[in-house]
Amino acid sequence: MSKRVFIIVLDSMGIGQAPDAALFSDEGSDTLAAIRNHENFYCPTLEELGLFNIQGVGGGVANPKASFARLRETSMGKDSTIGHWEIAGVISPEPLPTYPDGFPEEVIGEFEARTGRKVLCNKPYSGTDVIRDYGQQHVETGDLIVYTSADSVFQIAAHEDIVPVPELYKICETAREMLQGKHGVGRVIARPFTGEYPFTRTANRHDYSLQPPKTTMLDLLQKAGYDTLSVGKIYDLYGGKSVSELNRTKNNDEGMIKTLEMADRDFNGICFVNLVDFDMTYGHRNDVAGYAKAMTKFDRALRKFLPKMRDEDLLVITADHGCDPATPSTDHSRECVPMILYGKHIKAGTDLGIRSTFADISATVLQYFGVDQEDTAGTSVLPECLSEAEKAPKSSPSSEELIEIAQDQRKRSYTPYSGFTVGAALLTQSGKVYTGCNIENAAYTPTNCAERTAIFKAVSEGEQKFAKIAIVGGKEGETADCCPPCGVCRQVMAEFCGPDFIVILGKPGAYREYRLSELLPESFTPKNLD
Ligand code: THU
Repeated sequence: MSKRVFIIVLDSMGIGQAPDAALFSDEGSDTLAAIRNHENFYCPTLEELGLFNIQGVGGGVANPKASFARLRETSMGKDSTIGHWEIAGVISPEPLPTYPDGFPEEVIGEFEARTGRKVLCNKPYSGTDVIRDYGQQHVETGDLIVYTSADSVFQIAAHEDIVPVPELYKICETAREMLQGKHGVGRVIARPFTGEYPFTRTANRHDYSLQPPKTTMLDLLQKAGYDTLSVGKIYDLYGGKSVSELNRTKNNDEGMIKTLEMADRDFNGICFVNLVDFDMTYGHRNDVAGYAKAMTKFDRALRKFLPKMRDEDLLVITADHGCDPATPSTDHSRECVPMILYGKHIKAGTDLGIRSTFADISATVLQYFGVDQEDTAGTSVLPECLSEAEKAPKSSPSSEELIEIAQDQRKRSYTPYSGFTVGAALLTQSGKVYTGCNIENAAYTPTNCAERTAIFKAVSEGEQKFAKIAIVGGKEGETADCCPPCGVCRQVMAEFCGPDFIVILGKPGAYREYRLSELLPESFTPKNLD
């Protein structure tokens, strides 16, 4: 059964000051409040989902269709990189380093030693001014122009005739290797230019992003075999780590066109989207009217997206920080962000409250896929907002627990002939668990599989309504990634269980759920005898 989770990050769409906004000089910032009353703002889809029902936002609808929360940021930063890392389960206790006075001697000294070239400028500078003011000296000496900005960047400008592009890229790779830990800037950027004074920049700019310092949700999903598709600058924000498909986009419109295409595609995993115009084009330029209009356009695209969602899909809409276009500051703002969760399995209208970290998104997504969150941060909200129909009786074990019970049952297997042990844990609709193991026989054919052992045990105790079965197997002492049920067992399941019966295959920490109808389509059942 393939599952798709769409995470759409509205870059900078904060919903009001964070409790620690004063630390960032952002008291009173509220990006959504700044745009929602503008005549260009018309977002009925977001409104119906429950954007305005989030605590502290105000003006919610009577019956929101999604579950929603207000998320605070735990990390000590307010940039896109740190925000996205936290969304993926990594908390950053320090902001990425910035260099308003240029890079310290320890950095420049090592850079000069490793590249064999001297450094010019070493200050925050505009990219066009820096080649006008230092370009000639660079051409004459071959020294590299190194500069920064208000962001966490180490930029290297060089004339393409003096430092050929491949060499400049090598130099950037060296810088990237060097700039980790304390001096781990968000990006190293190659800024080649050409021509005569005052020089022009070429299209050969290249960014080298910092990889997250710890395991992310993307790493865990990829390890468990799920697709990790990216749209927009997601790939760069994670330094390309554990992203299985890259779809760069020019603007929000292209981002949503790509997302709509993804919704028509079959995949099993996440489609992670960043819409950067809100931040880059409108937030930083204090363009309230433009921001409001961009939200309206997004809302229209979202209206087209929702009908494309399948039963097993989950939509998460969120943001990575604020960038209030109505305050004098053109910088990001320390704000809370929305979390809107929508899908067939999500209860409509659950107020998930005010939560302490963006990482609750990561924990929720991982739990949705049944992947262990290991040491990533965050708490899943699924127990609070999974629709009633999805919940087995309150006291009954989760898929994760069933897999563990199945694993444990393998120690009871009687397998002197194959040495292959299989355990099964069958959950009845009434919430009881029946276990099974495989039992072999010297005459070989009377061998009973683990699944049938569990099912027959249950039936012999009077149970005939089943919800799920977990199966784990492998050679003794090992666990296979997947131990699919044999044909006979599938047929036995078809006898007692409907097409929606869930079969959980895998091992603890990495399993997948299938519907029986996927594993045995067109099955022969008692109905065929009518
Ligand atoms: N086995 C199961 O228990 N379940 C299955 O669906 C596949 C096979 C067992 C039977 C036998 O003891 C061993 O695995 C090797 O076939």
